[in-house]
Amino acid sequence: MYRKLAGACAVTLCCSALAAAPEPYIEASFYSQNDPFIRNYAASLQELADSSAEKLTINYAQEDLVKEYQQLQLATKNGAGALIVNPVDPTSIHQIIELADKNELPVIFVNREPIPNELNAYSKAWFVGTDSNQAGTYQADMLTRYVLDHPAADRNGDGSISYLLLQGEKGLSDTVYRTLSLQHSLDNSPVMFKQEAAVYANWQFDQAMQAADAFVRQHGFDKLEAIVANNDDMALGALQFLKSKGYNSGDPAKFIPIVGIDASSAALKAVKAGEMIGTVKNDYAAQARAAFRLAYMALHGKEISRTTTGYYFSDGRSVYIPYVKVYFE
Ligand code: GAL
Repeated sequence: MYRKLAGACAVTLCCSALAAAPEPYIEASFYSQNDPFIRNYAASLQELADSSAEKLTINYAQEDLVKEYQQLQLATKNGAGALIVNPVDPTSIHQIIELADKNELPVIFVNREPIPNELNAYSKAWFVGTDSNQAGTYQADMLTRYVLDHPAADRNGDGSISYLLLQGEKGLSDTVYRTLSLQHSLDNSPVMFKQEAAVYANWQFDQAMQAADAFVRQHGFDKLEAIVANNDDMALGALQFLKSKGYNSGDPAKFIPIVGIDASSAALKAVKAGEMIGTVKNDYAAQARAAFRLAYMALHGKEISRTTTGYYFSDGRSVYIPYVKVYFE
């Protein structure tokens, strides 16, 4: 009797296990939903999944490392076959790598670039993002060009353009390399530039608006001859502040050039309206296409190489989608 029951049980278990075996799917995890660039990125991924009939689940970690890990852990239990991860802390991804490795899952890190050593530690890990050095250089080019065309930009007439730099999150490679490349290019510009202050505004509109306000309270408008922001949301926050003080609102004597990065739709509108001088396109749609392609191929057990994907892999692991300068003559 016991043996019979045990046998029946085994059959039931085996059938229900078979029936429940989920189709492997792609799990995407983003560091925050409170970031317009990231929301656009996620929407692009969703469109790609919909048009290829691939199952994709998107989760947001709300800037919480523990939450991110738990969501990914759950995904491995729910049958995820490939992970796309926009890490909360890209300087420490070893736990995510360990989890992927343990479950033999490919993992495509996106946008927030991990430390190369950690990425290289796992043969099924890749990165899709941008080369931030390019972005700062483009911002410096646009600013230089603007000042050469508008010498009156030196409003206080001291022979140099004093600027406020609004930075993203501290320590993130986008922040560091956009900033360093900007500073390096401005140092080598035919125009004299002087960085009057650099403030971390964490990619955020409100923080940038407050930073611009605080700068003016401390240094006055006299020392504010340009604003460079590591992204558009911060550029737009600063613009909002300037507009509230009657600047960048049509009077050429009250115009402070601003450059951002992302080419968000709001920034493109501001550039078209002549309220910002330019931005740099951070092509989330192209990045999402590359990340999705890699995840899709890995999920279906296909080899990932330049020939099979059409992407060039820098150091064998990283796909960098080029930035594009955006300004109007
Ligand atoms: C950057 C982007 C920012 C912000 C950041 C998040 O690439 O330009 O707007 O989304 O990623 O890490």
